[in-house]
Amino acid sequence: MQIKTLITENYFFHLLHLENSLFSCNFATRKIFLFLHPIKSTKFNSYTMGLFSFTQEIAIDLGTANTIIIYNGKIAVDEPSVVALDRRTDKLIAIGEKARQMQGKENEGIKTVRPLRDGVIADFYAAELMIRGMIKMIPQKNRLFSPQLKMVVCIPSGSTEVEIRAVRDSSEHAGGREVYMIYEPMAAAIGIGIDVEAPTGCMIVDIGGGTTEIAVISLGGIVSNKSIRIAGDDLTSDIVEYMGRMHNIKVGERTAELIKINVGAALTELEDAPEDYVVRGPNRMTALPMEVPVSYQEIAHCLEKSISKMEAAILAAMEQTPPELYADIVKQGVYLAGGGALLRGLDKRLTEKLNILFRIADDPLHAVARGTGIALKNIDKFSFLLR
Ligand SMILES: Nc1ncnc2c1ncn2[C@@H]1O[C@H](COP(=O)(O)OP(=O)(O)OP(=O)(O)O)[C@@H](O)[C@H]1O
Ligand SMILES: [Mg+2]
Repeated sequence: MQIKTLITENYFFHLLHLENSLFSCNFATRKIFLFLHPIKSTKFNSYTMGLFSFTQEIAIDLGTANTIIIYNGKIAVDEPSVVALDRRTDKLIAIGEKARQMQGKENEGIKTVRPLRDGVIADFYAAELMIRGMIKMIPQKNRLFSPQLKMVVCIPSGSTEVEIRAVRDSSEHAGGREVYMIYEPMAAAIGIGIDVEAPTGCMIVDIGGGTTEIAVISLGGIVSNKSIRIAGDDLTSDIVEYMGRMHNIKVGERTAELIKINVGAALTELEDAPEDYVVRGPNRMTALPMEVPVSYQEIAHCLEKSISKMEAAILAAMEQTPPELYADIVKQGVYLAGGGALLRGLDKRLTEKLNILFRIADDPLHAVARGTGIALKNIDKFSFLLR
């Protein structure tokens, strides 16, 4: 029999190696309380070391609207980037979908916070709580110890040094021992299945909640990029403002987002037109309840200004593209990723306006996360990852 004593963060263990089996034993209570696994004696050291200091590898798409965590090659967490905090103590009350349900319904003791604005961390404390909390949401079997975390986190391509540092610091404070970062359009391209290291140019337009990122990628690097802080959140704000101005109805952020998802459009004429969406809320003047049916045509008008700005940014990025790469892009088309890619008629509108094919990536909401997950598996190979 071989006895080893291990002192870990929270526990004091004696490990017994007996008859080719490993037991964990508490001598104070004289009880063997955990049968761990039958093992071969030669593997004792490596087994115990592996058991008590294992590394968990995760990929995080830290988005303004949604945070996604990839673990073991699968989506383990997909939650809105929202936390609910106690207003007095700043203690965490809820995270993700639960916190989102509290948005706009807070009492004086609770506040809901979106830690990211315009693609970057705006509230450092809330961001750290959110990352830590979401990592804890990863479904796991035997959670005996906090693992060491090796992680790849994505960042907007227009991030400043300070913004990159904020992501790195938050990730490290949330338990990351080895933190790598990847630019979002690069992650999106990998997630779409493009060979980013090939000598062929490709263009990605990622329309998220906070930023629209346009990037040309070739030979494993970003050749040119443009990032504007007009994206899904701004379309939602346009709808809040429009409903008040045109229909005299007060709507919150959540209702406006539902209007966008149900009847949002980038064109006033659609082949697959959705039915009108009935919006309920208080009258701005009288505070009496009212119902307004909204058509996709009027939402297309209301979103026109913001979509035009996105279009102008794409055009500017095209202008900056070197001619050889431009030819590649024209040949294979431009890929649309992010939740904004799902806006009805956007691909068609851009295709007609710019005379280049715009195609929506498969499952555009998860393209960046998928690519970040692939980057995690290729940390040694992908030289474009930042440390
Ligand atoms: N069907 C839809 N039509 C239009 N917009 C949609 C649709 N579904 C989701 N969205 C919008 O997509 C945005 C979220 O997209 P995504 O999850 O890609 O953003 P994010 O990665 O969190 O943000 P960012 O990359 O800017 O930090 C939200 O603004 C949401 O309202
Ligand atoms: Mg995103």
